[in-house]
Amino acid sequence: MINVLKPSMTQREIDAVAEVLRSGWIGLGPRTEEFESRFARFIGVSGAVGLNSATAALDLAVRLLNIGPGDEVIVPVITFVSTAHAVCYSGGTPVFVDVDPRTLNMDLEWVRRKIGPRTKAIIPVHYGGRPVDVDALREVVGEVPIIEDCSHAAGAEWRGRKCGSLGDIGCFSFHAVKNIATGDGGMLTCSKPEWAERARRLRWLGISKGTWDRSEGGTTYAWEYRVDEIGLKCHMNDIMAAIGLVQLDRLAEMNHRRRQIVERYQRELSKIPSIETPPDDTAESQSAWHLYSIRCDYRNELSTWLKQHGVSTGVHYYPIHLYRCFGKQEPLPVAESVYKRLLTLPLYPDLTDEEVDEVIRLIKAFHPGGQA
Ligand SMILES: Cc1ncc(COP(=O)(O)O)c(C=O)c1O
Repeated sequence: MINVLKPSMTQREIDAVAEVLRSGWIGLGPRTEEFESRFARFIGVSGAVGLNSATAALDLAVRLLNIGPGDEVIVPVITFVSTAHAVCYSGGTPVFVDVDPRTLNMDLEWVRRKIGPRTKAIIPVHYGGRPVDVDALREVVGEVPIIEDCSHAAGAEWRGRKCGSLGDIGCFSFHAVKNIATGDGGMLTCSKPEWAERARRLRWLGISKGTWDRSEGGTTYAWEYRVDEIGLKCHMNDIMAAIGLVQLDRLAEMNHRRRQIVERYQRELSKIPSIETPPDDTAESQSAWHLYSIRCDYRNELSTWLKQHGVSTGVHYYPIHLYRCFGKQEPLPVAESVYKRLLTLPLYPDLTDEEVDEVIRLIKAFHPGGQA
């Protein structure tokens, strides 16, 4: 079976984990600190805070902005539910907007329509790794804080700047199949030291010192700490960080391989008239190509055919405003029609050229609507 998404692990990740396991310190500690500082430098921000998921990063981002009941946060609907759940955790209201039909990133016209005095933040999602035009978004939203959902966008660049440094706060996922995969994991990035410091406390129950800082000695006793506000338990640990450090080292090479695969798909699948391929990268916009999603009218049939021939596919995403947990919502016509045609094809660094060619061959062999 050819998977749709898959992590790329080498002996280096295995050795790094073994080293941490032997070190006697597997919790939040020096490897996490090292990963944070290397990740901050890579993204081009002053602060990075290691967490156990992007869901936690989004949750903390909303808390850092003191969002609560009565406050609204604008969220696109072609995304994973975490983007909106994070708003609800603090009692805020997600205000859903439609997506651009080509990029599937949030539609700025909808943002213009929905922004108002209660809007306290906006969460653009770099869908599939393709950067949102944050400069255009900034013009629309003015001073309203931008929380980037960078779950798909590790290494993606907009006008030469890394996603995660474009808005006010960046939220990354290192979940099992993301471009950087640590099993689970996440990172919050920002350039306001007071936000990074507060996030560091909030990830560890609100406690003023981490376990590693406390073990390092110093002028106060390890058990003397303050708890000024109630935090969560959502920090990274050194096992995740050890994997993350190696994955970060390999990210450029892994993303390059993703791009090569995408070029192969684009070249061949664009010859099939009934298939719509995703937009290419441009000089301004370099996707991290976390997902490769095509569109066609016979999506379900094609998915079943590929499965029968050993190829897994996916659908990213069912428009989240249609889930019952969010109650009755205004219709969003682009998202509601596009998701029925979306199909994510296999894409990951270890996918071989032969496997890509096999996926392309099977898609060409299927052609119910008549193809090239
Ligand atoms: C767009 C988006 N946002 C948020 C998340 C949540 O990430 P995590 O699983 O690290 O919490 C995901 C995960 O799939 C995602 O795709």
